[in-house]
Amino acid sequence: MTAREQVQHLLNFIDQSPSPWHAVASIETTIKALQFTRLDETAKWSLQAGGRYYVVRDDSSIVLFVLGHKIPAESGFKIVGAHTDSPGLRIRPHAATASDGIARLGVEIYGGPILATFADRDLSLAGRVSYVDDQHLTYKLVRFDQPLLRLPNLAIHMNRGVNEDGLKLHKQNELPLMLAQLSSDQLPQPYFLSLLEQAAGIDAAQVLSWDLAAYDTQKGAFWGGNQEFYANSQIDNLASCHAGLQALLDETVLNHAESTLVCAFFDHEEIGSESHIGAGGSFLTDVLQRISVATSMEREDTARALAQSFLISADMAHAYHPNFPSAYDADHKVFVNKGPVIKSNANRRYSSESISIARFIYWCEQASIPYQRYSHRSDLPCGSTIGPIASAKLGIRSIDIGCPMWAMHSIRESAGVQDHEYMIKVLQRFFID
Ligand code: CO
Repeated sequence: MTAREQVQHLLNFIDQSPSPWHAVASIETTIKALQFTRLDETAKWSLQAGGRYYVVRDDSSIVLFVLGHKIPAESGFKIVGAHTDSPGLRIRPHAATASDGIARLGVEIYGGPILATFADRDLSLAGRVSYVDDQHLTYKLVRFDQPLLRLPNLAIHMNRGVNEDGLKLHKQNELPLMLAQLSSDQLPQPYFLSLLEQAAGIDAAQVLSWDLAAYDTQKGAFWGGNQEFYANSQIDNLASCHAGLQALLDETVLNHAESTLVCAFFDHEEIGSESHIGAGGSFLTDVLQRISVATSMEREDTARALAQSFLISADMAHAYHPNFPSAYDADHKVFVNKGPVIKSNANRRYSSESISIARFIYWCEQASIPYQRYSHRSDLPCGSTIGPIASAKLGIRSIDIGCPMWAMHSIRESAGVQDHEYMIKVLQRFFID
């Protein structure tokens, strides 16, 4: 595939994945077609060398792996980690309210979105809904396709300072999303449930609970004079999930794995990773331990496997924005389409250190791709990733890298076409090294 085709493939993946639950479902569809077998955490596992497997925990975190021809105790795990969630707005339990005939959905803020970017977008809803079906408790993924919700701006005539002060939205009062104009005999919550019934085919009276996220219905697009950029929602971090997946599913990588190759994509990174499915939880540790146990009887072998493992934590990086030069350390500007970014932070907000950095640079050179170095301004708080959390949990060496992007945590983010291909290439190199 050309770089543009890879990005088109990524944009399609994002468009099919409006929520972390949908992202994992999209990945599952792709890997099932490539003979990956789903493992149940409640069952006993028996694994074959060269076998392809995956484990899903709670629908929005997934670990997939190809068992190497050498057992993990002899060659370790090569892991690419990323996250499936993106910051945004989540629907409250008592969702719908009405005043003056206008129904709105109450929302909570998930993670750290740029709230102003949610205004005036063609929003809709996606997630999962639990209900009773024929006396059985069950649930399904739900997605409204048409624009359903909106957060209209207040006109500038009533908000004269908006261009000087920025768009400030009160988190409690000014974020409810407009849903409908109701007639006088309609009640908001039953009306909302009737919409859910139409969209999902679930009897409204049987609905028990939900996880629903607002998403932007606008599809991904290429832009720029040479179409060298692309835009979509959730580029942070579905682009890294996609790159990791594309690298693992490469035919040479899939069929010639010496070491056990792993992609671990976690939910809940944007809220700190502390959950039973997040990078701070037991999920990846549990899976790696079970692989070790299934391939070797020696108790010591799990520790031997982990001691020679390596984690690449792939998450997006901050590309230089020429309108805001003072936001960056002048000696560490990174540019879109100039290669993967190695992130360093002395306080270990990023897990990279000189040894893991040297190894990554070596893989970039082997793959004949450029790379860039990033260090955050000392007078701005630095973000973090799953890298430090997962590597601490597992006790393995790690590096934090990612493709440069603009507008991180906007509902419409942007990045460079060429970088995505570079990232896939270096991750392939890592897997076959
Ligand atoms: Co991220």
